Amino acid sequence: MASPEKHIFQIVGNWKMSPDTQKEAMRLFERIKPHAQKAKYAHTTICPPFLYIPQLARNATGRKLHVGAQDVFWRNEGSYTGEISAPQLSDGKAYTVIVGHSERRALGETSEEVSKKVSRALSNGLTVIVCVGESERDDSGDYARFVSDQVRNSLTGVQKSHLNRVMIAYEPIWAIGKQAKHAATPSDVLEMTIFIKKTLADMFGQKYAEPVQFLYGGSVDEKNARAFLADSGIDGVLIGRASRDPKKMEQILAIADEVAKEK
Ligand code: PGA
Repeated sequence: MASPEKHIFQIVGNWKMSPDTQKEAMRLFERIKPHAQKAKYAHTTICPPFLYIPQLARNATGRKLHVGAQDVFWRNEGSYTGEISAPQLSDGKAYTVIVGHSERRALGETSEEVSKKVSRALSNGLTVIVCVGESERDDSGDYARFVSDQVRNSLTGVQKSHLNRVMIAYEPIWAIGKQAKHAATPSDVLEMTIFIKKTLADMFGQKYAEPVQFLYGGSVDEKNARAFLADSGIDGVLIGRASRDPKKMEQILAIADEVAKEK
């Protein structure tokens, strides 16, 4: 039997480098908060820029609404100008951290670095959202191998017993951001979710791979959220642009609740 947690959708907002001020961040957060509290079958996590984490986290509520970070460094201490450590994130009451987002990989982050960050964040008690996804698709199916290599290399060295705090976000690069042609389809996502689950089972064994949760990200909004949550075998969504629009978040959270009830 599936655990009851399985029916709780994870709705994660990645605010990227927005907004410009802490005041605006708080205003947005406070507008999303009542909808996050109301949702019976959804947990919301907002990942703002680092500077806003402590204030937002102080205003978060219980299990329904958490605050996360968008990156973390792979050492706990030392002379690393500009970096933020996992203990610092924990002290700021971040609950989750996104690691290996394609926009960071585009700036040069390798899967090897991602794996070190993932292990470090997990051993400091954070939950981790590991992002993977191909930049393009063609008929050869090479994208599937690319993603499975990315999963393997991004999770090398992760302790099996920590996998219950890992989420994998499948975010095909061609579906992310303003310049995206379109979102993936639920069947694209379902196919990839099954494939990644198999990769994890091969790596860690079925028993340990089982609790890993799956998110889809890339142009998720209030119009397509239902199809993804209902039909693509995922546990939630990672939302960029739409997560900075409280009205859209309200609708997506209501949809998550409806879909969960129907399941
Ligand atoms: P988007 O971004 O929803 O704006 O496409 C998703 C992401 O980058 O995580």
